[in-house]
Amino acid sequence: MRAVDIIVKKRSGGELDRREIEFLLGSYVRGEVPDYQVSAWLMAVFLQGMTIRETGALTEVMLKSGAVILLRGHESPELRGPFVDKHSTGGVGDKVSLPLAPIVAACGVQVPMMSGRALGHTGGTLDKLESIAGYRVNLSPEEFRAGIAANGFAMMGQTRDIVPADRLLYALRDVTGTVESIPLITASILSKKIAEGSDALVFDVKYGTGAFMKTIPGAEALAESLVSTATAMGKKVSALITNMNSPLGRKIGNFLEIEESVEILHGAADSGLDELRELTFALGAEMLVLGGKAVDVDEGVEQCRRAVASGKALELFLANIRTQGGDPDKILGECGKRRSPHRTLLKARQDGYITVDAYRVGLAGVTLGVGRNRTEDAVCADAGVILLAGEGDPVRRGDALMEIYGKDQGCLAPAAEALGQAVGYHQTPPARAPLIYGRKQI
Ligand code: URA
Repeated sequence: MRAVDIIVKKRSGGELDRREIEFLLGSYVRGEVPDYQVSAWLMAVFLQGMTIRETGALTEVMLKSGAVILLRGHESPELRGPFVDKHSTGGVGDKVSLPLAPIVAACGVQVPMMSGRALGHTGGTLDKLESIAGYRVNLSPEEFRAGIAANGFAMMGQTRDIVPADRLLYALRDVTGTVESIPLITASILSKKIAEGSDALVFDVKYGTGAFMKTIPGAEALAESLVSTATAMGKKVSALITNMNSPLGRKIGNFLEIEESVEILHGAADSGLDELRELTFALGAEMLVLGGKAVDVDEGVEQCRRAVASGKALELFLANIRTQGGDPDKILGECGKRRSPHRTLLKARQDGYITVDAYRVGLAGVTLGVGRNRTEDAVCADAGVILLAGEGDPVRRGDALMEIYGKDQGCLAPAAEALGQAVGYHQTPPARAPLIYGRKQI
């Protein structure tokens, strides 16, 4: 077999079989095929696409390039499943994973959650968790399993030996203009999610300015590909397609999003949290249905609501903080108080009903130190933005719109300028697209 023949076959629109994909990627990971040939192949895939069968084969080959976390085979009375995880394609203010995992765990579904870091305008669950002093995300498989057994869920980062092929391919895609390819994104996301050992997966596929996929048709195509491929690989799966044109919730930042998650788990009635709560419960309900703990999503939502009202979800959230090295009492004491000393306020330029653009807020977050442009950059735990008014709210000129917290004094002015541009003013209330646009399942 020769790499060039596989490139030519894909370039001509042919369907590759598993052996061909295995040969090309296996040889690449071993350093036997050079970057320039895999780059040419990636571009051929980008232009010609892949069938579901090819995407499944690519996912499996990537999965087998490294270690997997075994949950099945390690069962005990405490570690028994069902194991269900959620994956979001990323957004601004999207802290759903933080309250979701303990809510679902409180309802009897165990959640092995392997998360990522902030990159570009989108936030990362690991950076949020690491704003908790002492909290460890670099768990061994044994610690991960023990955490799930103890609290019903555990949160960890991807280790170097999980799906090494994705690390290599993603770096190459980044510099060859081949990131935005549905089969390549599907295989990249799914291989990592399957490696963490879940029985079932729920995807939150976002569309809008703050999302990876900017349009609804793009998000639908990605959701369809994720659901079809995962189903063909024997996983139970569903996907929601959700709106990311404006930030989710009222707080954007690393510790600020821990704080807002605690508010959700406390059952705070603040209407600024309505969409965050709605999405958390909707995704939780999907997880409970796939895990066999709820007959339908309405019952699932009700169970999520009860898990919060009873205090059980908050209890598990705090227990997880203790298990993974943090101090829950300290965190509760810091809520509402812990802020960067470098601060400023954004005021309304004019009267009107406002819109808040998620992408611009996310980019301002990078300037403030919430996120990063390169994977090796550090983030600031206490930086962020608090939205004092949200999408569709009426404001008067001079009203305070946002509290802004930066990593240093110098970043405040450029961030405030960018945040000012994120706000649109309208004479009549702007039409609001629904938070949850659609759902996909086979
Ligand atoms: N997230 C991933 O993990 N991989 C992609 O290719 C795109 C988004």
